[in-house]
Amino acid sequence: MEEKKDVLILAVESSCDETAASVVKNGREVLSNIISSQIELHKLYGGVVPEIASRKHIEKINQVIEEALKEANVTLDDLDAVAVTYGPGLVGALLVGVSAAKAIAYAKKLPLVGVHHIEGHISANYIENKDLEPPFICLVVSGGHTHLVVVRDYGKYEIIGHTRDDAAGEAFDKVARAIGLGYPGGPKIDKLSKEGNPEAIAFPKAKMADSPYDFSFSGLKSAVLNYLNGCKMKNIPVVEADVAASFQKAVVDVLVEHSMRAVKEYGFDKFAIAGGVASNSTLRNAMEQACRRRRIHFYHPSPIFCTDNAAMIGAAAYYEYRNGTRHSWDLNAVPNLKLGER
Ligand code: KG4
Ligand code: ZN
Repeated sequence: MEEKKDVLILAVESSCDETAASVVKNGREVLSNIISSQIELHKLYGGVVPEIASRKHIEKINQVIEEALKEANVTLDDLDAVAVTYGPGLVGALLVGVSAAKAIAYAKKLPLVGVHHIEGHISANYIENKDLEPPFICLVVSGGHTHLVVVRDYGKYEIIGHTRDDAAGEAFDKVARAIGLGYPGGPKIDKLSKEGNPEAIAFPKAKMADSPYDFSFSGLKSAVLNYLNGCKMKNIPVVEADVAASFQKAVVDVLVEHSMRAVKEYGFDKFAIAGGVASNSTLRNAMEQACRRRRIHFYHPSPIFCTDNAAMIGAAAYYEYRNGTRHSWDLNAVPNLKLGER
């Protein structure tokens, strides 16, 4: 039998507060990318409420999948596989996507490919950078994760650094809440920082004596809260833009420092960023400059592929599919799934 040339994958993502579906061709060509965000709903509570997230996913999932197929101009009969994020994430939220993907794959007798959410974020870089191939180093910075990863090959990852406490995005969200910006805080701090002085307040940058690649953001978060309290006690007016810019600088400096140390140590000439925080304009500029100085190629997804989406899951799934990854009908949601586990 002649081998079919193109591989069309329907990918589903529902690990947090975005219900998303996408059709991806050969891992790098996005035919559709539908995202139904619940942000407006969770804003009322200052963060994601797991129970509400699960219920909203159930309401939206079929419609989002139908739209993704329609926009890609394909039917279920054109697909080669169905992919889905099965961890890490909120268990009730993950289960909705996993159940939908299993139902479609079972009914259409298609292979089922479970994808790790972080592998998805990393693979978002393949979509717009057709030349990018492993090995490279990737900094994954999202609301739930801060990982420095060596991408040895497709599907082969080595985590060399991670956060000891808060994720980078979590720190952005908590500081934003403290200065009254609301949820999600990252984009708001990004915007407000442009009007502030990043040198105004010297916030601490945590260093882990035993690991040059690990991160810690809870001390920084406390320092910001202490600063705000101190101002209140002494009746000193707070310049929110300066607090935002100085906090952001402390985060960005550490992320750049650790990443460039890893790039140098491992000797790769390619470096990528991924995850929601990777859409931060100051972080992107700082990484761009740091890489240029070292003559390293810098890769980053467009903002729409940085925050949660299903196209990135389709990109990751293509390489998993090519490597022979197939999941059975008992695939379950794994809220604390480790990168590289099958
Ligand atoms: O990757 P993502 O959509 O979800 C997770 O997998 O966690 O990341 C969401 C996180 C949130 O914490 C949000 O505040 C942060 O990414 N974020 C940003 C920016 N846009 C989103 N942080 C800093 N600057 C931004 N422009
Ligand atoms: Zn994510």
